Amino acid sequence: MSHAQPPAAGHDWWRSAVIYQVYIRSFADGDGDGIGDLTGLRERLPYLAGLGVDAIWLNPWYTSPMADGGYDVADYRDIDPAFGTLDDAQAMIEEAHDLGLRVVIDIVPNHTSDRHAWFRQAVAEGPGSPARARYHFRDGKGTDGELPPNNWRSVFGGGAWTRVTEPDGTPGQWYLHLFAPEQPDLNWDNKEVRAEFESILRFWFDRGVDGVRIDVAHALDKDPGLPDLGPSDIEGIGSAADADHPHWDREGVHEIFRGWRAVADSYPEQRAFVAEAWTGAPERLARYVRPDELHTAFNFDYLTAPWRGDRLREAIDTSLAALGSVGAPATWVLSNHDVARHVSRYGRPQPDGPVRSLSELATDVPFDLELGTRRARAAALLTLALPGGAYVYQGEELGLWEVEDLPDALLQDPTWERSGHTDRGRDGCRVPLPWSGVSAPFGYSPGGARAQPWLPQPAAWRELTEEAQRGADGSMLELYRAALRIRAEHPALGDGAMTWDSGTDSAVLSFTRAPGLRCVVNLSPDLVVLPEHSGVILASGPLESGLLPGDTAVWLAL
Ligand code: GLC
Repeated sequence: MSHAQPPAAGHDWWRSAVIYQVYIRSFADGDGDGIGDLTGLRERLPYLAGLGVDAIWLNPWYTSPMADGGYDVADYRDIDPAFGTLDDAQAMIEEAHDLGLRVVIDIVPNHTSDRHAWFRQAVAEGPGSPARARYHFRDGKGTDGELPPNNWRSVFGGGAWTRVTEPDGTPGQWYLHLFAPEQPDLNWDNKEVRAEFESILRFWFDRGVDGVRIDVAHALDKDPGLPDLGPSDIEGIGSAADADHPHWDREGVHEIFRGWRAVADSYPEQRAFVAEAWTGAPERLARYVRPDELHTAFNFDYLTAPWRGDRLREAIDTSLAALGSVGAPATWVLSNHDVARHVSRYGRPQPDGPVRSLSELATDVPFDLELGTRRARAAALLTLALPGGAYVYQGEELGLWEVEDLPDALLQDPTWERSGHTDRGRDGCRVPLPWSGVSAPFGYSPGGARAQPWLPQPAAWRELTEEAQRGADGSMLELYRAALRIRAEHPALGDGAMTWDSGTDSAVLSFTRAPGLRCVVNLSPDLVVLPEHSGVILASGPLESGLLPGDTAVWLAL
């Protein structure tokens, strides 16, 4: 494989990398069916290289019935026809490498699709079969097994068990699914399951993939007794208990990941993992990135922090301390495909506690786009100045906001149905990107496309297209391009240490990165005097007579 080699000069590339998240379904549609695909992505790779990121992470691209946007995988070794073919994937990896971009894919080990060959076999072969032992099948409770085996809850709403009909037509056993019923949980105590995933990792590493994001990494190990949840355990995915929860963040996951690390380390070029692990405390997260386990983990404390100096500083300090204690770099992320876009989170009065969805914010106050955008610009400079790696979710570089008025009939996130239409789910951050032109589909689909984008784009995104922002002074896109260019060149940025400056408080965050760079973020509404500096490297908005306005950040030269 000629171009399967990753870009050169990559020792520990994952410690500093800026990784751009491609939600492939919504990135660019090459064949005009309204669904983003590999052809569309390949056409836009030069854009990503020009933006200045180091790598791309793609959400699942495997064969899938799409009950949960591809997180229900039917075949881990093939590409869904809506996205392309295995040859397209190989070509994309090679083209990305030629442009200096590394490629990270998403692996979903907690559950398969209910259409996966293993699950079909498990249903067909009946109770007690080896095929059922790969999943969590149990007899029900009650006189006729009509009640679920325990009280576990699905993250998407409702119970976590579904009953099957046995091959002889009688009502049968129940299977566990911590997510949708179409996503049966695998049994990680089963040797075949373990061997299969190590083989899948090799399959993709052999094709040149540089890294793997691990979906719900904290869920794989279950208490074998499957005990009922106690009152304090019944919480959502973002609030895992600190220890001894029957299915979140259990000790057994670590041995699995030590095995995965050995697979990655058997390759001459560095392959890196990033864990999606929602743990109760940064110290618990740090356990996933000990030297013989995974390389990095997403920083959800930072992502969910409200736009408040005290909360951001706390997230920064606790993350750096916990991860530093095991020698792992931090990563920083503001948005992804599971949370409301940060322009929309920040454009409202900020609460004390964490925020993932807009329902956690005051609903009686209208969304302030100007404020949210201003804060998002400042947040970009804060994020890209912190020590470690960073993630950019597609469209944040264009300043996209959460689409809050999608018609009910078009909602696709299983959360909408499973919550009995009380939670609108995550579609609002997954709307297809606007690239060019003045009306939908804004260049997302080619001219003469036979279908509309799978979710409708707001007409107002006319002003946020890549084309409209390219070269435009003061655009979000040009801010990201400048920040990424400086970050790639400046010796102080990326991995390393930071020192808080004296005078930092909850209104003004100010820190120094050696050599010679200071980042100051004004979270108050008032103008503040800049600390000592020899020049301005980059600012998220204009200074006023040398003073830093509210919700503005600046990189200073020392
Ligand atoms: C992760 C994914 C999310 C998905 C879930 C189940 O949280 O990020 O999109 O729905 O896992 O696979």
